Amino acid sequence: MAPTIRRARKSDAPAIGRVYVETWQSAYPGLLPDAMLVRMSDVRQSAWWSRALGDARESRGIFVAEDEDMGVVGFGSCGPVREIPEGLDGTESRVGEVYTLYVEPDFQNQGLGRRLLDAMFRQLQADGCDTAILWMLANNPARFFYEGLGGAPVGRRADRMAGTHVEEVAYAWRDLDAPLIRRRLAPEEEGPEQG
Ligand SMILES: CC(C)(COP(=O)(O)OP(=O)(O)OC[C@H]1O[C@@H](n2cnc3c(N)ncnc32)[C@H](O)[C@@H]1OP(=O)(O)O)[C@@H](O)C(=O)NCCC(=O)NCCS
Repeated sequence: MAPTIRRARKSDAPAIGRVYVETWQSAYPGLLPDAMLVRMSDVRQSAWWSRALGDARESRGIFVAEDEDMGVVGFGSCGPVREIPEGLDGTESRVGEVYTLYVEPDFQNQGLGRRLLDAMFRQLQADGCDTAILWMLANNPARFFYEGLGGAPVGRRADRMAGTHVEEVAYAWRDLDAPLIRRRLAPEEEGPEQG
Protein backbone atom coordinates (compact mmCIF):
# COMPACT_ATOMS: atom_id res chain seq x y z
CA MET A 1 0.00 0.00 0.00
CA ALA A 2 1.21 3.54 -0.77
CA PRO A 3 2.43 5.49 2.27
CA THR A 4 -0.17 7.73 3.88
CA ILE A 5 0.23 11.45 4.54
CA ARG A 6 -0.92 12.65 7.95
CA ARG A 7 -0.23 15.37 10.49
CA ALA A 8 2.78 14.52 12.68
CA ARG A 9 2.47 13.50 16.34
CA LYS A 10 4.96 14.12 19.13
CA SER A 11 5.92 10.43 19.06
CA ASP A 12 7.13 10.92 15.44
CA ALA A 13 10.03 13.14 16.59
CA PRO A 14 12.73 10.39 16.63
CA ALA A 15 11.72 9.18 13.13
CA ILE A 16 11.63 12.74 11.76
CA GLY A 17 15.08 13.38 13.25
CA ARG A 18 16.41 10.23 11.57
CA VAL A 19 14.90 11.10 8.15
CA TYR A 20 16.24 14.66 8.45
CA VAL A 21 19.82 13.52 9.06
CA GLU A 22 19.65 10.76 6.41
CA THR A 23 18.35 13.05 3.68
CA TRP A 24 20.80 15.87 4.47
CA GLN A 25 23.72 13.42 4.42
CA SER A 26 22.61 11.94 1.11
CA ALA A 27 21.49 15.15 -0.68
CA TYR A 28 23.95 17.81 0.46
CA PRO A 29 27.54 16.51 0.05
CA GLY A 30 29.19 19.02 -2.27
CA LEU A 31 26.55 21.63 -1.45
CA LEU A 32 27.31 22.00 2.29
CA PRO A 33 30.56 21.37 4.19
CA ASP A 34 31.26 17.67 4.93
CA ALA A 35 32.32 18.59 8.47
CA MET A 36 28.85 19.94 9.13
CA LEU A 37 27.10 16.91 7.60
CA VAL A 38 29.08 14.30 9.57
CA ARG A 39 28.46 16.15 12.83
CA MET A 40 24.67 15.99 12.40
CA SER A 41 22.96 13.95 15.07
CA ASP A 42 19.64 12.09 15.09
CA VAL A 43 19.40 12.75 18.82
CA ARG A 44 19.77 16.53 18.53
CA GLN A 45 17.36 16.66 15.59
CA SER A 46 14.81 14.50 17.42
CA ALA A 47 14.98 16.84 20.41
CA TRP A 48 14.40 19.84 18.13
CA TRP A 49 11.36 18.21 16.46
CA SER A 50 10.02 16.98 19.78
CA ARG A 51 9.96 20.57 21.02
CA ALA A 52 8.29 21.79 17.79
CA LEU A 53 5.68 19.00 17.96
CA GLY A 54 4.93 19.92 21.55
CA ASP A 55 3.89 23.41 20.44
CA ALA A 56 0.28 23.44 19.18
CA ARG A 57 0.85 26.30 16.70
CA GLU A 58 3.99 24.79 15.17
CA SER A 59 2.78 21.20 15.08
CA ARG A 60 -0.31 21.95 12.97
CA GLY A 61 2.08 22.64 10.05
CA ILE A 62 4.14 19.44 10.34
CA PHE A 63 3.20 16.45 8.16
CA VAL A 64 4.72 12.99 7.68
CA ALA A 65 4.57 10.29 5.00
CA GLU A 66 4.17 6.96 6.77
CA ASP A 67 4.87 3.57 5.19
CA GLU A 68 3.09 0.56 6.67
CA ASP A 69 6.36 -1.34 7.18
CA MET A 70 9.07 1.33 7.37
CA GLY A 71 7.25 3.97 9.44
CA VAL A 72 8.00 7.65 8.72
CA VAL A 73 9.81 7.98 5.37
CA GLY A 74 9.30 11.68 4.66
CA PHE A 75 8.12 14.87 6.28
CA GLY A 76 7.55 18.57 5.72
CA SER A 77 6.82 21.64 7.80
CA CYS A 78 5.18 24.97 7.09
CA GLY A 79 3.80 28.05 8.84
CA PRO A 80 3.95 31.85 8.82
CA VAL A 81 6.49 33.41 6.45
CA ARG A 82 9.83 34.31 8.05
CA GLU A 83 11.39 36.43 5.31
CA ILE A 84 9.49 37.71 2.27
CA PRO A 85 11.68 37.50 -0.88
CA GLU A 86 12.31 40.84 -2.59
CA GLY A 87 10.66 39.68 -5.82
CA LEU A 88 7.32 38.93 -4.19
CA ASP A 89 4.70 41.60 -4.01
CA GLY A 90 3.57 40.72 -0.52
CA THR A 91 1.35 43.70 0.05
CA GLU A 92 -1.98 42.12 -0.95
CA SER A 93 -1.08 38.50 -0.35
CA ARG A 94 -1.13 36.51 2.84
CA VAL A 95 2.09 34.61 2.57
CA GLY A 96 2.96 31.29 4.20
CA GLU A 97 6.24 29.42 4.05
CA VAL A 98 7.27 25.80 3.56
CA TYR A 99 10.25 25.44 5.90
CA THR A 100 11.33 21.85 5.17
CA LEU A 101 10.49 18.98 2.83
CA TYR A 102 12.47 15.73 2.89
CA VAL A 103 11.80 12.25 1.54
CA GLU A 104 14.12 9.33 2.32
CA PRO A 105 16.25 8.33 -0.69
CA ASP A 106 14.59 4.88 -1.05
CA PHE A 107 11.16 6.52 -1.22
CA GLN A 108 11.94 9.42 -3.58
CA ASN A 109 10.26 9.71 -6.98
CA GLN A 110 7.11 7.94 -5.80
CA GLY A 111 4.98 11.06 -5.46
CA LEU A 112 5.48 11.57 -1.71
CA GLY A 113 7.18 14.97 -2.07
CA ARG A 114 4.27 16.24 -4.10
CA ARG A 115 1.67 14.83 -1.70
CA LEU A 116 3.45 16.35 1.31
CA LEU A 117 3.71 19.73 -0.45
CA ASP A 118 0.02 19.55 -1.29
CA ALA A 119 -0.89 18.79 2.35
CA MET A 120 1.16 21.82 3.47
CA PHE A 121 -0.44 24.11 0.88
CA ARG A 122 -3.91 23.03 2.09
CA GLN A 123 -2.83 23.78 5.67
CA LEU A 124 -1.53 27.23 4.70
CA GLN A 125 -4.80 27.91 2.90
CA ALA A 126 -6.77 26.82 5.96
CA ASP A 127 -4.65 29.32 7.91
CA GLY A 128 -5.69 32.11 5.53
CA CYS A 129 -2.73 32.21 3.11
CA ASP A 130 -3.11 32.61 -0.64
CA THR A 131 0.60 32.45 -1.49
CA ALA A 132 3.37 30.09 -0.37
CA ILE A 133 7.12 30.50 -0.57
CA LEU A 134 10.07 28.24 0.10
CA TRP A 135 13.80 29.02 0.46
CA MET A 136 16.34 26.46 -0.74
CA LEU A 137 20.03 26.20 -1.59
CA ALA A 138 20.44 27.80 -5.02
CA ASN A 139 22.39 24.85 -6.44
CA ASN A 140 20.14 22.11 -5.03
CA PRO A 141 18.84 19.91 -7.88
CA ALA A 142 15.51 19.76 -6.00
CA ARG A 143 14.78 23.12 -7.62
CA PHE A 144 13.63 21.20 -10.72
CA PHE A 145 11.09 19.41 -8.56
CA TYR A 146 9.67 22.76 -7.39
CA GLU A 147 9.77 24.33 -10.84
CA GLY A 148 7.98 21.28 -12.27
CA LEU A 149 5.24 21.78 -9.69
CA GLY A 150 4.70 25.43 -10.63
CA GLY A 151 7.06 27.26 -8.26
CA ALA A 152 8.50 30.50 -9.69
CA PRO A 153 11.85 31.93 -8.54
CA VAL A 154 11.22 35.23 -6.72
CA GLY A 155 14.39 36.10 -4.86
CA ARG A 156 17.87 35.26 -3.63
CA ARG A 157 19.76 35.78 -0.41
CA ALA A 158 23.19 35.07 0.98
CA ASP A 159 23.48 33.10 4.20
CA ARG A 160 26.15 31.36 6.27
CA MET A 161 25.99 27.71 7.30
CA ALA A 162 28.74 26.19 9.45
CA GLY A 163 31.02 29.09 8.56
CA THR A 164 30.45 28.67 4.82
CA HIS A 165 28.85 31.21 2.54
CA VAL A 166 25.76 29.77 0.80
CA GLU A 167 23.37 31.24 -1.75
CA GLU A 168 19.67 30.55 -1.36
CA VAL A 169 16.84 31.03 -3.80
CA ALA A 170 13.14 31.53 -3.02
CA TYR A 171 10.29 29.93 -4.97
CA ALA A 172 6.70 31.12 -4.81
CA TRP A 173 3.28 29.70 -5.59
CA ARG A 174 0.89 32.63 -5.95
CA ASP A 175 -2.31 30.65 -6.34
CA LEU A 176 -2.76 27.97 -3.71
CA ASP A 177 -6.13 27.07 -5.24
CA ALA A 178 -4.37 25.70 -8.31
CA PRO A 179 -3.91 21.92 -8.13
CA LEU A 180 -0.31 20.79 -7.75
CA ILE A 181 0.07 19.13 -11.13
CA ARG A 182 3.45 18.40 -12.67
CA ARG A 183 4.19 20.70 -15.61
CA ARG A 184 6.48 19.22 -18.26
CA LEU A 185 9.67 21.26 -18.27
CA ALA A 186 11.37 22.23 -21.51
CA PRO A 187 14.53 20.11 -22.09
CA GLU A 188 16.79 23.04 -21.15
CA GLU A 189 14.92 23.40 -17.83
CA GLU A 190 15.09 19.70 -16.91
CA GLY A 191 17.17 18.57 -13.98
CA PRO A 192 19.48 15.58 -13.88
CA GLU A 193 18.05 12.11 -14.64
CA GLN A 194 15.90 10.75 -11.85
CA GLY A 195 16.83 7.30 -10.65
C1 LIG B 1 13.02 17.08 -3.46
C2 LIG B 1 12.17 15.96 -2.83
C3 LIG B 1 11.46 16.48 -1.59
C4 LIG B 1 11.13 15.51 -3.87
O1 LIG B 1 10.32 14.48 -3.31
P1 LIG B 1 9.98 13.16 -4.14
O2 LIG B 1 9.04 12.35 -3.33
O3 LIG B 1 11.25 12.53 -4.59
O4 LIG B 1 9.25 13.80 -5.41
P2 LIG B 1 7.92 13.26 -6.16
O5 LIG B 1 8.07 11.80 -6.40
O6 LIG B 1 6.71 13.74 -5.46
O7 LIG B 1 8.10 14.04 -7.52
C5 LIG B 1 7.07 14.77 -8.16
C6 LIG B 1 7.52 15.07 -9.55
O8 LIG B 1 8.74 15.84 -9.52
C7 LIG B 1 9.76 15.16 -10.24
N1 LIG B 1 11.04 15.36 -9.55
C8 LIG B 1 11.36 14.99 -8.29
N2 LIG B 1 12.62 15.37 -7.99
C9 LIG B 1 13.11 15.98 -9.11
C10 LIG B 1 14.36 16.56 -9.47
N3 LIG B 1 15.38 16.63 -8.61
N4 LIG B 1 14.50 17.07 -10.73
C11 LIG B 1 13.47 17.02 -11.63
N5 LIG B 1 12.26 16.49 -11.35
C12 LIG B 1 12.08 15.97 -10.11
C13 LIG B 1 9.36 13.70 -10.24
O9 LIG B 1 9.94 13.02 -11.33
C14 LIG B 1 7.86 13.78 -10.31
O10 LIG B 1 7.45 13.98 -11.65
P3 LIG B 1 6.27 13.08 -12.31
O11 LIG B 1 5.04 13.39 -11.52
O12 LIG B 1 6.21 13.56 -13.72
O13 LIG B 1 6.72 11.68 -12.16
C15 LIG B 1 13.02 14.72 -2.45
O14 LIG B 1 13.60 14.19 -3.62
C16 LIG B 1 14.11 15.01 -1.43
O15 LIG B 1 13.86 14.93 -0.23
N6 LIG B 1 15.33 15.32 -1.91
C17 LIG B 1 16.51 15.48 -1.07
C18 LIG B 1 16.41 16.60 -0.08
C19 LIG B 1 16.03 17.95 -0.65
O16 LIG B 1 16.75 18.51 -1.45
N7 LIG B 1 14.87 18.48 -0.20
C20 LIG B 1 14.39 19.78 -0.59
C21 LIG B 1 14.89 20.78 0.39
S1 LIG B 1 14.26 22.39 0.01
